[in-house]
Amino acid sequence: MSHEIMSSLSAGLLVVGLDGEVRILNPAGRRLLNVPEEAPRDDYRQMIGEPALSQVIDECLTTRGTIVRRTIRLPETRDGASHLGVTVSPLFGDAAELHGAICLFTDLTAVHELEVRLRLKEGLATLGELTAGIAHEFRNGLATIHGYSKLMDLNALPYAYRAYVEGIRSEVQSLTEIVTNFLNFARPAQLTLTRVDLRTVCERAADELRGDVQSLGGEIAIRGEFSTVDGDEVLLRQAFSNLLRNAVEACASRARSTPTVVVSSDLDSAHNMSVVTVDDNGPGIPPEARDRVFRPFFTSKRSGTGLGLALVQKIVVFHNGRISVGSSPLGGARLQISLPIADGPLAVSTTV
Ligand SMILES: Nc1ncnc2c1ncn2[C@@H]1O[C@H](COP(=O)(O)OP(=O)(O)O)[C@@H](O)[C@H]1O
Ligand SMILES: [Mg+2]
Repeated sequence: MSHEIMSSLSAGLLVVGLDGEVRILNPAGRRLLNVPEEAPRDDYRQMIGEPALSQVIDECLTTRGTIVRRTIRLPETRDGASHLGVTVSPLFGDAAELHGAICLFTDLTAVHELEVRLRLKEGLATLGELTAGIAHEFRNGLATIHGYSKLMDLNALPYAYRAYVEGIRSEVQSLTEIVTNFLNFARPAQLTLTRVDLRTVCERAADELRGDVQSLGGEIAIRGEFSTVDGDEVLLRQAFSNLLRNAVEACASRARSTPTVVVSSDLDSAHNMSVVTVDDNGPGIPPEARDRVFRPFFTSKRSGTGLGLALVQKIVVFHNGRISVGSSPLGGARLQISLPIADGPLAVSTTV
């Protein structure tokens, strides 16, 4: 294949010999796998440093059969692609002897993200419908129990029974709060779209919490280049304020260090996304909990609702963005939101 064709190929192309030598790795392949130009070429397993991809090539060399469009997932720690679609074919010589393998791979990250977003949207829409049906019954039932318990005159009751009635009242109250919070999360959201300046949104959210941080001797800093998005300002502010509240609560739980929360923004012009990162120096989120933090009712706090991040994810997904969780260079958690940058005329409002 000519050098020109290989360089202009948008898919990654990797050709390996039976001895493991890398004969060809085109520029797109280098980029997708993050392989530097000067990397040694004598062993493809080492060069691509990606066991999942090496395994597919090995399988092809062992079975001498073509593997068509296998999806592999790359570790989240690396930059670039997170999902690759891979096709590997054996390379035969004139006498049908095996010479090596030729591997074509494409970046499926965007497709994968779209699938995840669609699944989440569908799940949330179903949840909204189901909840609307039972919410009414729940609320009525709780209001009735609450009303009857209020009608009981504590002073007219035998002393031993008073604690029971007080117990009923306080349980009903906390159940009502849980139901209200849950409905707030599950109900279909009406997005009122305007052109929203993300810096203003973050500054307002930070203003709400600055008092709390300063009373702990810390600071919330806002840095970087922000852009505008087409979104619902109220919901976006709620999303950022939930992230900041979590960050402040996390810092507060770690008494010895000065609470530091940094909101930084960057533009990812290759994908036309605005990326806002919230870092803190709290205890962080352990890797094994990272998948669970977005689930409704997941909380590690005594009086937490576990609905904060679930709502943030819902808001982000309905703005066609994405949210990820990781560790911060400040020592705590890093929550990162990417939203499509506004361009062209304002999109129309949608109910979701
Ligand atoms: N910045 C953070 N640092 C450490 N842990 C966090 C952070 N943000 C969220 N978490 C974890 O995720 C859980 C869920 O957060 P959230 O959905 O907001 O519910 P809640 O704040 O009510 O617990 C928290 O209980 C906590 O364990
Ligand atoms: Mg929270």
